[in-house]
Amino acid sequence: MDSLTIPIADDFHLHLRQDAMMHVVAPLVRAGGVGRCVVMPNTTPPIATAEDAIRYRGALEALAPDVEFLMTLYLLPELTPQAVSTAAAQGVFGVKCYPKGVTTNSESGTEDFGAYDAVFSAMEAEGLALLIHGEVPSNAEKDVCVLNAEARFLPELEKLHGRFPKLRIVLEHVTTAKAVDCVKALGSTVAATVTAHHLDLTVDDWAGRNHNFCKPVAKYPHDRDALRQVVCEGHPRFFLGSDSAPHPRSAKESACGCAGVFTSPLLLPYLADTFDRLGCLDRLADFTSTFGCAFHGLPPSADTITLERRAQPVPAAYGDIVPYRAGQTLLWQR
Ligand code: DOR
Ligand code: ZN
Repeated sequence: MDSLTIPIADDFHLHLRQDAMMHVVAPLVRAGGVGRCVVMPNTTPPIATAEDAIRYRGALEALAPDVEFLMTLYLLPELTPQAVSTAAAQGVFGVKCYPKGVTTNSESGTEDFGAYDAVFSAMEAEGLALLIHGEVPSNAEKDVCVLNAEARFLPELEKLHGRFPKLRIVLEHVTTAKAVDCVKALGSTVAATVTAHHLDLTVDDWAGRNHNFCKPVAKYPHDRDALRQVVCEGHPRFFLGSDSAPHPRSAKESACGCAGVFTSPLLLPYLADTFDRLGCLDRLADFTSTFGCAFHGLPPSADTITLERRAQPVPAAYGDIVPYRAGQTLLWQR
């Protein structure tokens, strides 16, 4: 197969930032093969209200009129059931939960899930999705570090699903075999997103290599194999969320580098490359363009994109942002 035409992709987890960074990255979304995306709210300050989300969406649409932006609110103590209803009426897609302190701009994150029962009930009733960064904070006394932080979060996911069985919950950017097994075992309202980079990387690829460092960190080879397996077998509750997360070069190439891998401008070529190497190119369209919208009850896209098996070098930078696999050659391009 030297050419592949698929419905344009949905990216169910994308960071587009603000100001100058947003001006660089928003116009690159469509180039990466994505026509619809879920925008993360961990801006500074966070996207806290429907009004913030609508304003942010307007700014993004002005920069990328050919992309549909699905907006999210940051789960904060001031989010009320009434605000959830207002957000639903305004077309907000979901609410993003960051446990406090686990990643970039999560200082205002959640400390106690039990405090949000009324909000989760309202979301369940209004059809808003709950998107979860599934890690617990590192804690030496409890033997928690970045390698087991996701696995330690899974009981919380199980509890939430048990209490709100009709709430659509997405465990974002899964990185472990345990998370794959857990999501598979839960009901039809629980799904997981998978990034392009977590299908490639393991611990050795980010330890000492800041540009591959992200949260949650890539784990063991057997964990990566579990991710590869679930996308190659084509499980309908595992679909694309790139977690493309741009940072300026200086913030990545510092002694304490920021977490985030920038994949958006070449997202579909990265994925075609990986799926081709894994021998499951026939599963790419379901992963990028079918399963996610079916899970969320969105109409499938009518637009298509064509990918071709033709070598393509990854640019050294987009403005001040170093992309994933910079300087390497991809087997596919669009
Ligand atoms: O690596 C990451 N970067 N993980 C996240 O959860 C946040 C993101 C960011 O915003 O930079
Ligand atoms: Zn993210």
